[in-house]
Amino acid sequence: MCNTSLHAFLEALPKAEHHMHLEGSLEPELLFELAAKNDITLPSSDPAFASPECLRKRYENFQNLDDFLSYYYIGMSVLIDKADFEALAYAYFAKAASQNVRHAEVFFDPQAHASRGVELSTIVESFSRAQERAAVDFGMTTKLIMCLLRHLPLYEAMEMFSQARDGGYYANGTLAGVGMDSSEAPFPPPLWKDLYDVAKELDIRRTIHAGEEGPPLYVSQALDILDVERIDHGVRALTEGDDALVARLASSKTLLTLCPLSNVRLNCIDSIDSFPLRRLINSGIRFSINSDDPAYFGGYILENYCALQDAFNLSIRDWEAIAKGAVLGSWCTEERKEQLLIEIKDVADKWSRESEKE
Ligand code: ADE
Ligand code: ZN
Repeated sequence: MCNTSLHAFLEALPKAEHHMHLEGSLEPELLFELAAKNDITLPSSDPAFASPECLRKRYENFQNLDDFLSYYYIGMSVLIDKADFEALAYAYFAKAASQNVRHAEVFFDPQAHASRGVELSTIVESFSRAQERAAVDFGMTTKLIMCLLRHLPLYEAMEMFSQARDGGYYANGTLAGVGMDSSEAPFPPPLWKDLYDVAKELDIRRTIHAGEEGPPLYVSQALDILDVERIDHGVRALTEGDDALVARLASSKTLLTLCPLSNVRLNCIDSIDSFPLRRLINSGIRFSINSDDPAYFGGYILENYCALQDAFNLSIRDWEAIAKGAVLGSWCTEERKEQLLIEIKDVADKWSRESEKE
């Protein structure tokens, strides 16, 4: 909760989230529960795995992206059967709905499960079932984005991508796009050109984690070489990028899916005060505010909004513009966008009128 008069407004504001890894929403309590159910031994040599509380405490001290990723991959190793994947996704959708997320585009990392023998079909069918339940129970629209892992070779990413394509998951709309995540700096965009060329040829939407630990050059190469339509993170393009890159991102209406609490936890920025929110707003870049891996970084989307509000004291109209920008950058139908824009305007108008009365 933020300590400002806008907290109730921020709760009520209809939201679109675009950068949330389903495996990153695995809370330590569920992690331990699934480990016991599936007979998975957690590393006994690491005191962090003594209890859910110890693990949560350890998550407060990530040194960098790779330090986090090592816990993230151990964490997701407890996910085995369809019920586990469905429970994970539904728990996130329920939590997001409680924070008025009305549209969510979520990532998953199938290669990280394939190494344990979990089939792509097991994962996708379970997530689809959770998506259907979220639509019925919360009226939430959702999209699934498959992420491929940069620390593994290109041919493995290609194989997983072909499986998804041959399984018909793109043709039938089960998957909305393709992205890449995991370590960034040692794996620059030219490595992935063949994959992104095929995706483009098939008219599949493309995004990539860029400018989180990599420099602004990583972001411009992702645009130039991979022709991505979205950048996940991109924070370093704002903290270190020149005006030409910032102007390019603004004029191309490339959505940047930013994750403030994640950036602080992974030491991409010194503190929330260093988050480049003013430059984002002033440049006219299209962006959304997201939770990335909420179970690991101390908060879901609302906690990210609140942390920014505490630091930057925005107005109701500033937040209305942010929420609308997020909707405009979404991969949902134009009709759904129209609905969500109206919902946002109604809430912003109502709270503006009330704040004028005070
Ligand atoms: N996978 C899950 N979270 C990630 C992040 N913040 N950066 C790169 N890969 C990730
Ligand atoms: Zn991410």
